[in-house]
Amino acid sequence: MSKNIVILSGAGISAESGIKTFRDAGGLWEDHPVEQVATPEGFAADPVLVQRFYNLRRAALKTVTPNAAHIALARLQSEIRARGGDVMIVTQNVDDLHERGGAKYVLHMHGELKRVFCTACDFHADWDGDVSVDTPCLACRTVGTVRPDIVWFGEIPHHMDAIDRALSQCDLFVSIGTSGAVYPAAGFVRVAKHYGAQTLELNLEPSEGNLYFDETRLGKAGNTVPAWVENILAG
Ligand code: OAD
Repeated sequence: MSKNIVILSGAGISAESGIKTFRDAGGLWEDHPVEQVATPEGFAADPVLVQRFYNLRRAALKTVTPNAAHIALARLQSEIRARGGDVMIVTQNVDDLHERGGAKYVLHMHGELKRVFCTACDFHADWDGDVSVDTPCLACRTVGTVRPDIVWFGEIPHHMDAIDRALSQCDLFVSIGTSGAVYPAAGFVRVAKHYGAQTLELNLEPSEGNLYFDETRLGKAGNTVPAWVENILAG
């Protein structure tokens, strides 16, 4: 049985919870071009619009719940850890559905809707409500410098050292619900393979990097993930 597993999740794992994926929306994120709401330039051009956009996304988290895939991965993590192994969940998602499904160890490489930071003093904080251009930083009290802790295009993803370490040590790498269109996440399968891991893709359709996976299981994450977790835990 695999003892050291790295999971990479993407928007597809949250689709059945009611959060829209990116590539289905024709390059738009909730009707906005990504350049407008997911780049530092977009924020500089219209901070009011961008803060409002993330306030809506943050508030929308209250209307969705984890699905069977999030819950199955949390169970996998706790049971494999109880047996002395490890399951690292690396997610590209900015929602909190892995955690609300019960997962304890999750690396949000593209940031989190419920986190903010101050561009003046780099103070990071959990955040549940709205942020506006008038919100003062909790640490340095500067006004107008608090922004969502979301990794925008052109910025460096979070936790890359920990992710590289986990990829180099895992014996199984599993990619769930991601199109394989955005780097560096799209390259993780090749890194894991280079270090000798088995690789499995669980997705609705083959991703762009599908040829790098040893095995592919197509279907909705709410079906394929719990079934795969049962296999692993029984094995
Ligand atoms: P995408 O929208 O690119 O891809 C979602 C994938 O999930 C597609 O391959 C779908 O086929 C699949 N899918 C859809 N519904 C599914 C379901 N019910 N079960 C299983 N799979 C399903 O989303 P990501 O790959 O996560 O970056 O996108 C990567 C990054 O691009 C995002 O993190 C975001 C975006 O720009 C940033 O915000 C920095």
